[in-house]
Amino acid sequence: MALMEQAFVLTDRDFSRVRRLIYDYAGIKLSEQKRNMVYNRLVRRLRSQGGVDFSQYLDLVQAERSDEREAFVNALTTNLTSFFREAHHFDLLASWAGERAKSVSAPLRVWSSGCSTGEEPWSIAMVLREAGCRAEILATDIDSEVLRTAHAGIYPAERTESMPQARVRRHFLRGVGANEGLLSVHPELRTMVRFGQLNLQAPSWSAAGRFDAIFCRNVVIYFEREAQLRLADRFAAVLAPGGLLLVGHSESFPASHAAFRSCGRTAYERRLT
Ligand SMILES: C[S@@+](CC[C@H](N)C(=O)[O-])C[C@H]1O[C@@H](n2cnc3c(N)ncnc32)[C@H](O)[C@@H]1O
Repeated sequence: MALMEQAFVLTDRDFSRVRRLIYDYAGIKLSEQKRNMVYNRLVRRLRSQGGVDFSQYLDLVQAERSDEREAFVNALTTNLTSFFREAHHFDLLASWAGERAKSVSAPLRVWSSGCSTGEEPWSIAMVLREAGCRAEILATDIDSEVLRTAHAGIYPAERTESMPQARVRRHFLRGVGANEGLLSVHPELRTMVRFGQLNLQAPSWSAAGRFDAIFCRNVVIYFEREAQLRLADRFAAVLAPGGLLLVGHSESFPASHAAFRSCGRTAYERRLT
């Protein structure tokens, strides 16, 4: 059924096409119930591009070397996140990193593989800085827009309200004058994190090398089961034996994979063999 009362009409055909395209580009499976969300998010893009209808807008998205494709993907991703979300993972990381530091001197390599606006990788950096661990954190996302915010590392102070004030004071610089009310991550944290665009569904990943811990939380919710299992395979291949894989509160895709064993709430350890 088309949404007739709105300025533009998202026909059944357009909606199916949107669902097919976002699946092809990002592996995101949008349900029938997302129709209003799709309309609201894409109508802004359609207007900004001066399009006459969704069909023409989608032609633009699909055009060869289209710049609009990235904006289309950005518009349809869900980016909800917060500092120290699912706090038990950060407690686990702190104790795990402390133990590892007793026997290994190399910097810890951590991948935040759907980092959204950056609260997750900056939280990882804070915990590892507190633990006195040398670390290299890679933070990636498919969405180029959220990556800009993540990389800037500047947040309204309200975003840190649930954090202990001592932690905020230690890891952020307070803005003054025109920047009053803003917090900027500490320069020492900035040396620990590097950002890049990466589609987890791409046939090969630009993020090379081995990781000691991978955060993939609240990213695969809209992926098909087979895609989740493929991801478990690929994470197993880049995680060091004994390394950690941390997933979101409603996710369990590593649970049935032979390379992983559960080591806590939504936490998995890469088996040694
Ligand atoms: C809900 S946020 C989760 C952020 C953070 N991991 C957390 O748990 O708070 C999900 C993120 O996954 C990203 N994402 C979705 N599909 C992706 C894909 N195919 N490759 C990489 N990132 C993807 C979205 O852009 C979004 O920023």
